[in-house]
Amino acid sequence: MKGLILSGGKGTRLRPLTYTSAKQLVPVANKPVLFYGIEALVAAGIREIGIVVGDTRAEIEAAVGNGSRFGASVTYIQQDAPRGLAHAVLISEEFLRGSKFVMYLGDNLLQRGITSLVEEYVRIGVNCEILLTKVPNPSSFGVAELDSEGKVVCLVEKPKEPKSDLALVGVYLFDDSVFDAVKAIRPSARGELEITDAIQWLVDNRRSVQAHLVSGWWKDTGKAEDMLEANRTVLDAVEPSGSPEIEGRSSIEGKVFFEGSPGDVVLINSVIRGPVIIGPGTRIEESFVGPYTAIAAGCRLSGIEIENSIVWEGSSLSDIPLRISDSLIGRGVTIRRRPDMKPKAHRFLVGDNSEIGIGE
Ligand code: G1P
Repeated sequence: MKGLILSGGKGTRLRPLTYTSAKQLVPVANKPVLFYGIEALVAAGIREIGIVVGDTRAEIEAAVGNGSRFGASVTYIQQDAPRGLAHAVLISEEFLRGSKFVMYLGDNLLQRGITSLVEEYVRIGVNCEILLTKVPNPSSFGVAELDSEGKVVCLVEKPKEPKSDLALVGVYLFDDSVFDAVKAIRPSARGELEITDAIQWLVDNRRSVQAHLVSGWWKDTGKAEDMLEANRTVLDAVEPSGSPEIEGRSSIEGKVFFEGSPGDVVLINSVIRGPVIIGPGTRIEESFVGPYTAIAAGCRLSGIEIENSIVWEGSSLSDIPLRISDSLIGRGVTIRRRPDMKPKAHRFLVGDNSEIGIGE
Protein backbone atom coordinates (compact mmCIF):
# COMPACT_ATOMS: atom_id res chain seq x y z
CA MET A 1 0.00 0.00 0.00
CA LYS A 2 1.04 3.56 -0.67
CA GLY A 3 -0.27 6.81 0.79
CA LEU A 4 -1.30 10.00 -0.96
CA ILE A 5 -1.72 13.06 1.24
CA LEU A 6 -3.34 16.12 -0.27
CA SER A 7 -1.68 19.26 0.94
CA GLY A 8 -2.48 21.85 -1.67
CA GLY A 9 -5.40 24.24 -1.36
CA LYS A 10 -5.42 27.82 -0.26
CA GLY A 11 -7.10 27.52 3.14
CA THR A 12 -9.24 30.61 2.48
CA ARG A 13 -11.47 29.88 5.49
CA LEU A 14 -8.46 30.18 7.81
CA ARG A 15 -7.24 33.56 6.61
CA PRO A 16 -5.26 35.52 7.69
CA LEU A 17 -3.27 32.62 9.21
CA THR A 18 -3.07 30.93 5.81
CA TYR A 19 -1.58 34.00 4.10
CA THR A 20 1.68 33.05 5.73
CA SER A 21 1.20 29.39 6.56
CA ALA A 22 -0.16 26.34 4.75
CA LYS A 23 -3.45 25.28 6.36
CA GLN A 24 -2.04 21.80 6.88
CA LEU A 25 0.70 23.25 9.08
CA VAL A 26 -1.65 25.03 11.48
CA PRO A 27 -0.87 23.48 14.87
CA VAL A 28 -3.28 21.32 16.83
CA ALA A 29 -1.94 20.73 20.35
CA ASN A 30 1.39 22.22 19.16
CA LYS A 31 1.76 19.84 16.21
CA PRO A 32 0.95 20.61 12.56
CA VAL A 33 -2.29 18.92 11.58
CA LEU A 34 -0.53 17.29 8.60
CA PHE A 35 1.80 15.37 10.93
CA TYR A 36 -1.15 13.51 12.48
CA GLY A 37 -2.03 12.23 8.99
CA ILE A 38 1.53 11.13 8.19
CA GLU A 39 1.75 9.36 11.56
CA ALA A 40 -1.60 7.61 10.95
CA LEU A 41 -0.35 6.27 7.60
CA VAL A 42 2.95 5.09 9.07
CA ALA A 43 1.11 3.44 11.97
CA ALA A 44 -0.93 1.52 9.36
CA GLY A 45 2.34 0.23 7.87
CA ILE A 46 2.39 2.65 4.91
CA ARG A 47 5.84 4.05 4.34
CA GLU A 48 5.79 5.23 0.73
CA ILE A 49 3.89 8.49 0.83
CA GLY A 50 3.23 11.00 -1.93
CA ILE A 51 2.30 14.51 -0.84
CA VAL A 52 0.44 16.62 -3.39
CA VAL A 53 1.50 20.23 -2.90
CA GLY A 54 0.54 23.58 -4.39
CA ASP A 55 1.69 27.14 -3.73
CA THR A 56 2.85 26.26 -0.21
CA ARG A 57 5.20 23.48 -1.38
CA ALA A 58 8.38 25.05 0.06
CA GLU A 59 6.86 25.37 3.50
CA ILE A 60 5.44 21.83 3.53
CA GLU A 61 8.78 20.43 2.33
CA ALA A 62 10.65 22.37 4.99
CA ALA A 63 8.38 20.92 7.70
CA VAL A 64 8.17 17.30 6.50
CA GLY A 65 11.50 16.84 4.67
CA ASN A 66 12.10 13.43 3.10
CA GLY A 67 9.87 11.79 5.70
CA SER A 68 12.67 9.88 7.44
CA ARG A 69 11.84 11.31 10.83
CA PHE A 70 8.38 9.75 10.52
CA GLY A 71 9.88 6.46 9.31
CA ALA A 72 8.53 7.14 5.80
CA SER A 73 9.82 8.05 2.38
CA VAL A 74 8.06 11.11 0.98
CA THR A 75 7.71 12.08 -2.71
CA TYR A 76 6.35 15.55 -3.50
CA ILE A 77 3.91 15.87 -6.39
CA GLN A 78 3.24 19.39 -7.66
CA GLN A 79 -0.31 20.43 -8.53
CA ASP A 80 -0.30 23.62 -10.61
CA ALA A 81 -3.58 24.93 -9.16
CA PRO A 82 -6.32 23.61 -6.84
CA ARG A 83 -8.13 21.67 -9.58
CA GLY A 84 -9.88 19.19 -7.30
CA LEU A 85 -9.16 16.04 -5.34
CA ALA A 86 -9.67 13.78 -8.37
CA HIS A 87 -7.15 15.92 -10.28
CA ALA A 88 -4.64 15.26 -7.50
CA VAL A 89 -5.15 11.51 -8.08
CA LEU A 90 -4.80 11.99 -11.85
CA ILE A 91 -1.40 13.71 -11.55
CA SER A 92 -0.18 11.10 -9.06
CA GLU A 93 -0.81 8.09 -11.31
CA GLU A 94 2.86 7.48 -12.03
CA PHE A 95 3.65 7.39 -8.32
CA LEU A 96 0.64 5.23 -7.39
CA ARG A 97 -0.03 2.86 -10.29
CA GLY A 98 0.27 -0.83 -9.45
CA SER A 99 -0.33 -0.32 -5.75
CA LYS A 100 -3.48 0.02 -3.67
CA PHE A 101 -3.41 3.33 -1.85
CA VAL A 102 -4.96 5.47 0.87
CA MET A 103 -5.79 9.04 -0.06
CA TYR A 104 -5.75 11.24 3.03
CA LEU A 105 -6.77 14.89 3.08
CA GLY A 106 -4.03 16.79 4.88
CA ASP A 107 -6.44 18.81 7.05
CA ASN A 108 -8.35 15.80 8.41
CA LEU A 109 -7.88 14.22 11.82
CA LEU A 110 -9.20 10.78 12.82
CA GLN A 111 -9.21 9.70 16.44
CA ARG A 112 -8.74 6.01 15.83
CA GLY A 113 -6.26 6.33 12.98
CA ILE A 114 -6.66 4.21 9.85
CA THR A 115 -4.91 0.93 10.67
CA SER A 116 -8.08 -1.18 10.97
CA LEU A 117 -9.53 0.43 7.82
CA VAL A 118 -6.47 -0.43 5.77
CA GLU A 119 -6.64 -4.01 7.06
CA GLU A 120 -10.35 -4.21 6.25
CA TYR A 121 -9.85 -2.85 2.72
CA VAL A 122 -7.15 -5.41 1.96
CA ARG A 123 -9.21 -8.22 3.52
CA ILE A 124 -12.50 -7.60 1.69
CA GLY A 125 -10.83 -6.94 -1.66
CA VAL A 126 -13.09 -4.18 -3.05
CA ASN A 127 -11.99 -1.55 -5.58
CA CYS A 128 -12.75 1.37 -3.31
CA GLU A 129 -13.65 1.98 0.30
CA ILE A 130 -15.03 5.27 1.55
CA LEU A 131 -15.48 6.49 5.10
CA LEU A 132 -18.72 8.11 6.20
CA THR A 133 -19.84 9.78 9.36
CA LYS A 134 -23.08 11.42 10.47
CA VAL A 135 -22.83 15.20 10.63
CA PRO A 136 -25.33 17.92 11.56
CA ASN A 137 -24.38 20.04 8.49
CA PRO A 138 -24.08 17.67 5.50
CA SER A 139 -24.27 20.54 2.96
CA SER A 140 -20.67 21.43 3.89
CA PHE A 141 -19.33 18.04 2.73
CA GLY A 142 -19.53 15.34 0.10
CA VAL A 143 -22.70 13.39 0.99
CA ALA A 144 -23.47 9.71 0.35
CA GLU A 145 -26.83 8.05 -0.11
CA LEU A 146 -26.94 4.34 0.81
CA ASP A 147 -29.62 1.77 -0.01
CA SER A 148 -31.32 -0.39 2.62
CA GLU A 149 -28.43 -2.87 2.47
CA GLY A 150 -25.85 -0.15 3.06
CA LYS A 151 -24.63 -0.08 -0.56
CA VAL A 152 -23.55 3.24 -2.01
CA VAL A 153 -26.14 4.56 -4.44
CA CYS A 154 -25.20 8.15 -4.94
CA LEU A 155 -22.55 10.70 -3.93
CA VAL A 156 -22.94 14.46 -4.24
CA GLU A 157 -20.41 17.17 -3.41
CA LYS A 158 -21.79 19.83 -1.03
CA PRO A 159 -25.46 19.34 -1.97
CA LYS A 160 -27.93 22.16 -1.21
CA GLU A 161 -30.55 19.55 -0.33
CA PRO A 162 -28.64 16.57 1.09
CA LYS A 163 -30.25 13.15 0.72
CA SER A 164 -28.67 11.93 3.96
CA ASP A 165 -26.60 13.14 6.90
CA LEU A 166 -23.66 10.90 5.96
CA ALA A 167 -20.60 13.00 5.08
CA LEU A 168 -17.53 11.71 3.31
CA VAL A 169 -14.59 11.73 5.68
CA GLY A 170 -11.35 12.80 4.00
CA VAL A 171 -9.82 9.30 3.85
CA TYR A 172 -10.39 7.08 0.80
CA LEU A 173 -8.95 3.70 -0.24
CA PHE A 174 -8.46 2.96 -3.92
CA ASP A 175 -6.87 0.59 -6.40
CA ASP A 176 -5.92 1.24 -10.04
CA SER A 177 -9.57 1.41 -11.15
CA VAL A 178 -9.74 4.96 -9.82
CA PHE A 179 -7.49 6.11 -12.69
CA ASP A 180 -10.19 5.14 -15.22
CA ALA A 181 -12.66 7.14 -13.13
CA VAL A 182 -10.60 10.33 -12.81
CA LYS A 183 -9.91 10.26 -16.57
CA ALA A 184 -13.60 9.79 -17.43
CA ILE A 185 -15.15 12.56 -15.33
CA ARG A 186 -15.45 16.24 -16.27
CA PRO A 187 -14.93 19.32 -14.06
CA SER A 188 -17.86 20.26 -11.83
CA ALA A 189 -19.70 23.60 -11.81
CA ARG A 190 -16.93 25.01 -9.57
CA GLY A 191 -14.37 23.93 -12.18
CA GLU A 192 -12.81 21.09 -10.19
CA LEU A 193 -12.46 17.36 -10.80
CA GLU A 194 -14.43 16.09 -7.81
CA ILE A 195 -13.48 12.86 -6.06
CA THR A 196 -17.18 12.31 -5.32
CA ASP A 197 -17.82 12.22 -9.11
CA ALA A 198 -14.95 9.77 -9.57
CA ILE A 199 -16.40 7.45 -6.90
CA GLN A 200 -19.87 7.82 -8.46
CA TRP A 201 -18.28 6.73 -11.76
CA LEU A 202 -16.93 3.61 -10.01
CA VAL A 203 -20.42 2.85 -8.64
CA ASP A 204 -22.07 3.43 -12.05
CA ASN A 205 -19.48 1.28 -13.82
CA ARG A 206 -19.92 -1.72 -11.53
CA ARG A 207 -16.73 -1.41 -9.58
CA SER A 208 -17.09 -2.44 -5.93
CA VAL A 209 -17.37 0.48 -3.53
CA GLN A 210 -17.66 -0.26 0.17
CA ALA A 211 -18.89 2.30 2.70
CA HIS A 212 -17.53 2.20 6.23
CA LEU A 213 -19.16 4.22 9.00
CA VAL A 214 -16.56 5.85 11.21
CA SER A 215 -16.96 5.64 14.94
CA GLY A 216 -14.93 7.92 17.13
CA TRP A 217 -14.39 11.52 16.27
CA TRP A 218 -13.28 12.97 13.03
CA LYS A 219 -12.39 16.59 12.34
CA ASP A 220 -11.94 18.54 9.16
CA THR A 221 -9.90 21.52 10.29
CA GLY A 222 -10.91 23.93 7.54
CA LYS A 223 -12.21 26.72 9.78
CA ALA A 224 -11.16 28.46 13.01
CA GLU A 225 -13.85 26.84 15.15
CA ASP A 226 -12.91 23.42 13.72
CA MET A 227 -9.27 24.04 14.68
CA LEU A 228 -10.30 24.89 18.25
CA GLU A 229 -12.50 21.81 18.40
CA ALA A 230 -9.72 19.56 17.07
CA ASN A 231 -7.36 21.14 19.60
CA ARG A 232 -9.81 20.41 22.43
CA THR A 233 -10.26 16.83 21.31
CA VAL A 234 -6.54 16.11 21.03
CA LEU A 235 -5.82 17.86 24.34
CA ASP A 236 -8.44 15.70 26.06
CA ALA A 237 -6.20 12.70 25.36
CA VAL A 238 -2.94 14.36 26.42
CA GLU A 239 -1.12 12.79 29.36
CA PRO A 240 0.47 15.09 31.93
CA SER A 241 4.20 15.25 31.39
CA GLY A 242 7.31 17.40 31.70
CA SER A 243 8.37 19.67 34.49
CA PRO A 244 8.56 23.43 34.33
CA GLU A 245 10.76 25.69 36.36
CA ILE A 246 8.48 27.19 38.97
CA GLU A 247 9.12 30.52 40.61
CA GLY A 248 6.90 32.14 43.23
CA ARG A 249 3.38 30.84 43.84
CA SER A 250 2.22 28.80 40.89
CA SER A 251 -0.15 25.88 40.57
CA ILE A 252 -0.72 23.23 37.97
CA GLU A 253 -4.16 21.62 37.92
CA GLY A 254 -5.37 18.76 35.74
CA LYS A 255 -3.53 17.42 32.71
CA VAL A 256 -0.74 19.70 31.57
CA PHE A 257 1.96 18.74 29.08
CA PHE A 258 5.15 20.80 29.32
CA GLU A 259 7.24 20.14 26.23
CA GLY A 260 11.03 20.14 26.06
CA SER A 261 13.56 19.39 28.78
CA PRO A 262 12.85 20.00 32.47
CA GLY A 263 12.83 23.73 33.14
CA ASP A 264 12.33 24.75 29.49
CA VAL A 265 8.98 26.26 30.45
CA VAL A 266 9.08 28.90 33.18
CA LEU A 267 6.06 29.60 35.41
CA ILE A 268 6.00 32.56 37.75
CA ASN A 269 3.00 33.17 40.04
CA SER A 270 0.68 31.55 37.53
CA VAL A 271 -2.13 29.00 37.42
CA ILE A 272 -2.26 26.44 34.63
CA ARG A 273 -5.48 24.46 34.49
CA GLY A 274 -5.41 21.60 32.00
CA PRO A 275 -5.89 20.13 29.58
CA VAL A 276 -3.14 22.39 28.32
CA ILE A 277 0.08 22.00 26.32
CA ILE A 278 2.95 24.47 26.57
CA GLY A 279 5.95 24.55 24.25
CA PRO A 280 9.60 24.86 25.28
CA GLY A 281 11.09 28.29 25.91
CA THR A 282 7.72 29.76 26.91
CA ARG A 283 7.55 31.97 29.98
CA ILE A 284 4.30 32.55 31.83
CA GLU A 285 4.09 35.19 34.51
CA GLU A 286 1.20 36.44 36.68
CA SER A 287 -1.20 34.66 34.35
CA PHE A 288 -3.94 32.05 34.16
CA VAL A 289 -3.87 29.50 31.34
CA GLY A 290 -7.20 27.72 31.30
CA PRO A 291 -8.54 24.49 29.80
CA TYR A 292 -8.07 23.58 26.14
CA THR A 293 -5.23 25.95 25.42
CA ALA A 294 -2.12 25.19 23.36
CA ILE A 295 0.73 27.65 23.75
CA ALA A 296 3.60 26.96 21.34
CA ALA A 297 7.33 27.42 21.88
CA GLY A 298 9.00 30.70 22.74
CA CYS A 299 5.93 32.64 23.88
CA ARG A 300 5.72 35.31 26.59
CA LEU A 301 2.53 35.56 28.66
CA SER A 302 2.37 38.15 31.36
CA GLY A 303 -0.61 39.49 33.30
CA ILE A 304 -3.20 37.71 31.16
CA GLU A 305 -5.89 35.05 31.35
CA ILE A 306 -6.47 32.75 28.39
CA GLU A 307 -8.56 29.65 27.67
CA ASN A 308 -9.79 27.54 24.73
CA SER A 309 -7.21 29.06 22.41
CA ILE A 310 -4.23 28.26 20.20
CA VAL A 311 -1.14 30.48 20.30
CA TRP A 312 1.67 29.85 17.78
CA GLU A 313 5.37 30.26 18.37
CA GLY A 314 7.02 33.43 19.56
CA SER A 315 3.94 35.43 20.45
CA SER A 316 3.75 37.83 23.33
CA LEU A 317 0.57 38.64 25.26
CA SER A 318 0.69 41.01 28.19
CA ASP A 319 -1.49 42.96 30.62
CA ILE A 320 -4.81 42.39 28.90
CA PRO A 321 -7.73 43.25 31.17
CA LEU A 322 -10.30 40.75 29.84
CA ARG A 323 -9.74 37.01 29.52
CA ILE A 324 -8.75 35.85 26.02
CA SER A 325 -11.02 33.04 24.87
CA ASP A 326 -11.78 31.05 21.68
CA SER A 327 -8.84 32.63 19.86
CA LEU A 328 -6.31 31.61 17.23
CA ILE A 329 -3.19 33.74 17.52
CA GLY A 330 -0.49 33.38 14.86
CA ARG A 331 3.29 33.54 15.01
CA GLY A 332 5.19 36.46 16.50
CA VAL A 333 2.04 38.37 17.45
CA THR A 334 2.18 41.06 20.14
CA ILE A 335 -0.94 42.00 22.08
CA ARG A 336 -0.33 44.27 25.04
CA ARG A 337 -1.93 46.90 27.17
CA ARG A 338 -0.29 50.33 26.91
CA PRO A 339 -1.63 52.54 29.73
CA ASP A 340 0.94 55.24 28.80
CA MET A 341 -0.30 55.50 25.20
CA LYS A 342 -1.79 58.81 24.03
CA PRO A 343 -4.45 59.12 22.79
CA LYS A 344 -6.03 56.52 25.04
CA ALA A 345 -7.35 54.21 22.35
CA HIS A 346 -7.17 50.76 20.84
CA ARG A 347 -4.29 50.72 18.38
CA PHE A 348 -4.21 47.98 15.74
CA LEU A 349 -1.65 46.87 13.19
CA VAL A 350 -3.64 43.96 11.78
CA GLY A 351 -3.32 42.08 8.48
CA ASP A 352 -5.97 41.47 5.84
CA ASN A 353 -8.96 39.33 6.83
CA SER A 354 -8.06 39.41 10.52
CA GLU A 355 -10.86 39.30 13.03
CA ILE A 356 -10.81 41.06 16.37
CA GLY A 357 -13.58 40.81 18.94
CA ILE A 358 -13.63 43.47 21.65
CA GLY A 359 -15.56 42.17 24.62
CA GLU A 360 -16.24 45.46 26.36
C1 G1P B 1 -13.41 17.73 0.83
C2 G1P B 1 -14.25 16.80 -0.07
C3 G1P B 1 -15.56 16.45 0.63
C4 G1P B 1 -15.27 15.84 1.99
C5 G1P B 1 -14.36 16.78 2.82
C6 G1P B 1 -13.89 16.09 4.08
O1 G1P B 1 -14.05 18.98 0.94
O2 G1P B 1 -14.48 17.44 -1.32
O3 G1P B 1 -16.29 15.52 -0.17
O4 G1P B 1 -16.48 15.59 2.67
O5 G1P B 1 -13.21 17.16 2.10
O6 G1P B 1 -13.00 16.88 4.81
P1 G1P B 1 -13.23 20.34 1.31
O7 G1P B 1 -12.91 20.25 2.78
O8 G1P B 1 -12.02 20.33 0.47
O9 G1P B 1 -14.19 21.44 1.00
